Amino acid sequence: MQVGIDKMSFFSPQHYIDMVDLAHARGEEPDKYLIGIGQTQQAVAPATQDVVTMGANAADQMLTQTDREEIEEVIFATESGVDQSKSAAVYVQKLLGINRYARTIELKQACYSGTYGLMQARDYVTLHPEAKVLVIASDIARYGLNTGGEVTQGAGAVAMLVTANPTIATLNQDSVFMSDEIMDFWRPNDSSTAVVDGKFSANIYRDFFKELWDRYRAQTSRDLNSFKALVFHLPFTKMGLKALRDVLPEVSEEKQNALLTSFEASRHYNKQIGNLYTGSAYLSLMSLLLNDDTLQAGDDLALFSYGSGAEGELFSLTLQANYNQGLITNQLPELLEQRTQLSISEYEQMFASVVQGSTNRALDITHDHAKFVLSGVQDQKRQYVEQF
Ligand code: COA
Repeated sequence: MQVGIDKMSFFSPQHYIDMVDLAHARGEEPDKYLIGIGQTQQAVAPATQDVVTMGANAADQMLTQTDREEIEEVIFATESGVDQSKSAAVYVQKLLGINRYARTIELKQACYSGTYGLMQARDYVTLHPEAKVLVIASDIARYGLNTGGEVTQGAGAVAMLVTANPTIATLNQDSVFMSDEIMDFWRPNDSSTAVVDGKFSANIYRDFFKELWDRYRAQTSRDLNSFKALVFHLPFTKMGLKALRDVLPEVSEEKQNALLTSFEASRHYNKQIGNLYTGSAYLSLMSLLLNDDTLQAGDDLALFSYGSGAEGELFSLTLQANYNQGLITNQLPELLEQRTQLSISEYEQMFASVVQGSTNRALDITHDHAKFVLSGVQDQKRQYVEQF
């Protein structure tokens, strides 16, 4: 029996900034951001969106009523959670009307935990072939105004339904993974923004990828020619390109060009959304599936997941016959089309308006067109509202 991703769905807030505007505001060459970092736009979350609402907004679009009745586990991966104790998965279970006999759990290990969630879901369904598991990876990447990491912010959520005989792709049992205690990126409890040693972090990412790639090749006897495309965690899209370039010399020029073409498809949406932390690799997978028209059923893809701190995993997926039917085809183009561009000063105000702490606060939700929004905090409880 094959187990894997049956459906995928995405959500990102309705505001964005243009990286040329940000470069001008920060006194940088636009090409540094557009080419050197590889980002063209960045999603900006209003106070009325947090990881719970974004995760619910992503998953709601793909779940049928039957799915909601049959889901056995809700696994919520995030590194920008809203509570130190209660899991975001419980909020989402209620907002989505998922049955009360589901397990709910939140996972954390920087940008990696979505992959752990996916593997946990795969293993559970392998033991319980009738089960459906909902995996959500949702984050708001915040480095701070005027910081080196500001150009690599973003926000959004990817939801995945894991089942037997999946529509999109099987998750093959060939993972290699590793962990090592490294201070390349972290976020202390009293800070709403991440602390990052950016260049060190980028180097560790490449080291982990190379070490895991060598280990994968040794354990599976497969090489780059085995894969139609490599999908990467993309904290900024140049990061994946650097890692890909590290291994390209292993294959012919023709194969190198094919892999680079697929890489462009895989970063198409990430360039316009920015960093999603836990969801980035899976937005990149969606981007590949929706933008690479050379893909065919049976193609194998390799996916590299990395979370600072640090942990990495590399595994393969096999595309299924009607993989496009597991995606909502117009979802991403329509979402991007409907976004509103902010000036840099509007973005700075929105960035500062984020809900921090637990003092009473009522938020104006009239400008947020998403189905699920945060309407404020009352008696230290976050108030979530379903608008339609
Ligand atoms: N045209 C084209 N490219 C340009 C350029 C221009 N005018 N000006 C600069 N560049 C290139 C640089 O050559 C460099 O490319 P390289 O990385 O291939 O060498 C790139 O743009 C970035 O320039 P750099 O001076 O290194 O940028 P920076 O000091 O502002 O740092 C990051 C960039 C990515 C380290 C920083 O944004 C950061 O810390 N981000 C967060 C890191 C992160 O997400 N870590 C988690 C990883 S999992």
